[in-house]
Amino acid sequence: MPLEPDHDLLDKVINLAKRRGFIFPSAEIYGGFRSTYDYGPLGVNMLRNVKQAWWRSMVQLRDDVVGLDAAILGPPAVWAASGHLATFTDPLVDCRRCKERWREDKIDGVCPNCGGTEFTEARAFNLMFKTQAGPVEGEGATAYLRPETAQGMFTNFMSVLTTTRRRPPFGIAQVGKSFRNEITPQNFVFRTREFEQMEMEFFVPPADADSWYRYWIQHRYEWYLDLGIPADRLRRHEHAKEDLSHYSRGTTDIEFLYPWGWDELEGIANRGDYDLTQHANASGVALEYFDQQAGVRYTPYVIEPAAGATRAMMAFLLAAYEEDEVEGESRTVLRLDWRLSPYQVAVLPLSKKAELEGVSREVLAVLQPWFMCDYDVTQSIGRRYRRQDEVGTPYCVTVDFDSLSDRAVTVRDRDTTAQVRVAIDDLVGELRGRMSPQ
Ligand code: GAP
Repeated sequence: MPLEPDHDLLDKVINLAKRRGFIFPSAEIYGGFRSTYDYGPLGVNMLRNVKQAWWRSMVQLRDDVVGLDAAILGPPAVWAASGHLATFTDPLVDCRRCKERWREDKIDGVCPNCGGTEFTEARAFNLMFKTQAGPVEGEGATAYLRPETAQGMFTNFMSVLTTTRRRPPFGIAQVGKSFRNEITPQNFVFRTREFEQMEMEFFVPPADADSWYRYWIQHRYEWYLDLGIPADRLRRHEHAKEDLSHYSRGTTDIEFLYPWGWDELEGIANRGDYDLTQHANASGVALEYFDQQAGVRYTPYVIEPAAGATRAMMAFLLAAYEEDEVEGESRTVLRLDWRLSPYQVAVLPLSKKAELEGVSREVLAVLQPWFMCDYDVTQSIGRRYRRQDEVGTPYCVTVDFDSLSDRAVTVRDRDTTAQVRVAIDDLVGELRGRMSPQ
């Protein structure tokens, strides 16, 4: 049976995200700022974990990928060469009845606001944010906020090649903010004007491009599975030739089953030699690799897995959200992989009484160097377990009055709710055994 989209799920996750401090609407005290979001105390932990899991998989565990952190502001020359000034546009239409503006390809000829069916002619609307660098206005001062991180990897290609002594196949990875003046941002943090990307440009000999393209589709697909997205909510969708972006020779999306249906999570593209050739022609700097062994000079092809950090976080939240029953009581639980949870451990003194505070703080201090920890003394222990389940904390450590004499604590598992007694001296080892990276 194919899985059906769950239409209530989005509201439940938005509500939880706001109520528990994952994601807040930005500038809310001023009535909010359209489709812009702030990541709260739990959200910032989780988003960092998503990016860290990506960096680990794409950079740390490989010897053929290096990192980069390039500037967000760029001169028009970069975006002219990349094709973004000319072609990074969406077709914009105005509803003739209510005057709302829409992306023509997203509305099926009917205004989502008033149901009107008459629109202005579509005009190409460039999605880049334009700004000014420096105090003097004028053409020479124009700058753009990057709409993708990718171009930083192309413009730094020679610098990275020479400073790291790499040879194709090798990749440059970057995580950072990108900005697009989306006509219709929507669906919570799925499509926003300010968002974070995790992109890697993998430079390969042209003859090997197709096999690397297939390799990266599989590798990226498995990353989501490994971090807990169920296989029946993920699929790969290869774009038809006529739907490809201006730079692409082949694109496959990894799609996720969102509450509104299947939609993009990440795109993997074979960009050919488009970008390096464009930048070489525009800048006059050769962007090539000289293969000394074979005695040939060539422009590498690029395979690009391009993911959204904020969009991936949203998918992980949606996939992890569950309502179940524990001892006859209903609970909400985020079954997040421990690598993504905002907190890995919560230290919970059974009571607020002063005599438990010393040992509880001692336990916290033992755990903090290893794990992101929460410390909570408010409300009943049952309520506190529920609060931790709801934000995906995989383990709770309860300190009780016996801890004072037996120097042991209770470790409770979020998913099974099973509890075991563990000596404080063995606690780090026990928890590291349960939460160790493969
Ligand atoms: N360098 C290629 C590139 O940027 P893209 O498909 O336009 O390709 C890659 O973007 C990923 O970035 C998307 O799959 C998505 O996860 C994320 N993304 C793109 N636009 C976004 C937006 N407006 N809001 C949130 N995430 C976005």
